[in-house]
Amino acid sequence: HRHLLGIEGLSPLDIQALLDLADEQVEVSRQIEKSKSTLRGRTQINLFFEASTRTQSSFEIAGKRLGADVMNMQVASSSVKKGETLIDTAVTLNAMRPDIIVVRHHAAGAVHLLAQKVDCAVVNAGDGAHEHPTQALLDALTIRRNKGRIEGLTVAICGDILHSRVARSNMILLAAMGARVRLVAPSTLLPPGIARLGFETFTSMEKGLKDADIVMMLRLQRERMNGSFVPSVKEYFRFYGLDQEKLAFAKPDALVMHPGPMNRGVEISSDVADGAQSLIREQVEMGVAVRMAVLEALASHLPNR
Ligand code: CP
Repeated sequence: HRHLLGIEGLSPLDIQALLDLADEQVEVSRQIEKSKSTLRGRTQINLFFEASTRTQSSFEIAGKRLGADVMNMQVASSSVKKGETLIDTAVTLNAMRPDIIVVRHHAAGAVHLLAQKVDCAVVNAGDGAHEHPTQALLDALTIRRNKGRIEGLTVAICGDILHSRVARSNMILLAAMGARVRLVAPSTLLPPGIARLGFETFTSMEKGLKDADIVMMLRLQRERMNGSFVPSVKEYFRFYGLDQEKLAFAKPDALVMHPGPMNRGVEISSDVADGAQSLIREQVEMGVAVRMAVLEALASHLPNR
């Protein structure tokens, strides 16, 4: 593959190969002395039109661990503010001959469009409510390292599924790798017709979490709810917030995940987020290894400069 635009389009073998490569990168990602030279002389531009803490910083660390020159484009102080479009911005940057552009944009499909306009590799770091492929890969790596497998596990994805690119990429990946995926949310936050695609849906946390191996919580994405139903925080936490009482519905050895950023007291309580069953910090660590694996996998397809 020349780009990584989504989990859609990757085969189970592609996913497994990326996870195996990421597993090998975990040690490298932990120690600067072990840094590699796979991307030495290559230029990586991180172009984030939406806010990010985890994804942008881990792509920067990953690129540097592989020896790339990494440039973080400051969109807030760029000519985007003067009305320059995504495509004109990308074509302008492309003229500086980068090898890889990592893009986050608020419009679903923006990254696919951009990939047609540039001659370097493009990595999707989140496009609207569409896909966030490296998040799904790091979640899968975290699950596999803790449970030893993905196939046959019951994974409950809970919360604002309708607006979540993380949910979408995870649903595609987990289903492809043989997990049983459940979606747990108020009916207003479930994508219409989703049950027809083979995903079990639940509006009750008690029923949805029963016998779950993994409980994956999602933030309410208010910024994408323009005008539609926005639940009250108090009501939402009461029915859908993961606290110890609701976590007890899952298997006793169930593990809790959250892609971040978390809203404590809204979709998850602090004691669960920081508790013994939480993998949230490990997910962040695996983010660097997965992004190294993705960049390394793309390295052999980069244009000759
Ligand atoms: N999970 C995730 O994408 O986090 P950021 O928005 O902080 O990058």
